[in-house]
Amino acid sequence: MHCHLLWGVDDGAHTLQDSRDIISLLKARGFHGAYCTPHIISRYPSNTPSSLKARFRELLDSLPDRDFDLRLSAEYMLDENFERMITEEEPLSHDGTHLLVELPQFRLPNAWMDMLQLVLDRGFIPVLAHPERYGKIMPPEELAALSTRGIRFQGNIGSLFGLYGKTCQAVARQFRKENLYLWWGTDAHNASMLKKLRL
Ligand SMILES: [Fe+2]
Repeated sequence: MHCHLLWGVDDGAHTLQDSRDIISLLKARGFHGAYCTPHIISRYPSNTPSSLKARFRELLDSLPDRDFDLRLSAEYMLDENFERMITEEEPLSHDGTHLLVELPQFRLPNAWMDMLQLVLDRGFIPVLAHPERYGKIMPPEELAALSTRGIRFQGNIGSLFGLYGKTCQAVARQFRKENLYLWWGTDAHNASMLKKLRL
C-alpha cells in the first residue's frame, strides 16, 4: 500500500533498474503487486498527478512481463502546497476513495487538521502514513484519537521490528494491538531497505 519504487521522482528508486530490483524482491517475498506512492511534497515541485502518471506509464511499458500488479497512487505531505495539490488536478488516490497523507516528523504544520478536514470534505478517506513515527510531534494518545474522526492509519512493517527505533516500535505494537491500522506497507525506498524487513 506504500512504497517508493517508481524511479526518478523522489528519494526512492533512482533508476529503472532500482525499480526492477525492488519489484524482484517483493515478488520473491510473495507479493503479487504494489501501490507506487511517490511523494507529492513541496520538496519535489515537479511531482504532480499528471507527471507521475507519465512516469508510471513509462515504468509499465519497460517491464518485460505483467505478472506483478502495479498501481499508482501517491503519498501527500500536509504542507503549504497541499490544498493546491489536491484541488488543481484530481488527486492520486488508492481505489478512488483513500488518500495517503503524511506529516513531517519534527514539526506539526499549521492548519494540519484543516487539511485533513479538506480531504474528508472532498469525499476521500484520509489514511495517515506511519503514525507510529510521529512521536516527536504528537503524543500517541492524541494520534490514536484521530481514528475517531474519520482518519485511518497505515503502519510501516519495519516499525514493528524496530527499523525506526524502539519508541516507534512500541507505538506500532500498541496501535496494532488496538486494531488501529487499516493498511500495512513496506514504505520501501530501495532494495537494501527492503532486505532489512522481515516479511
Ligand atoms: Fe513513504
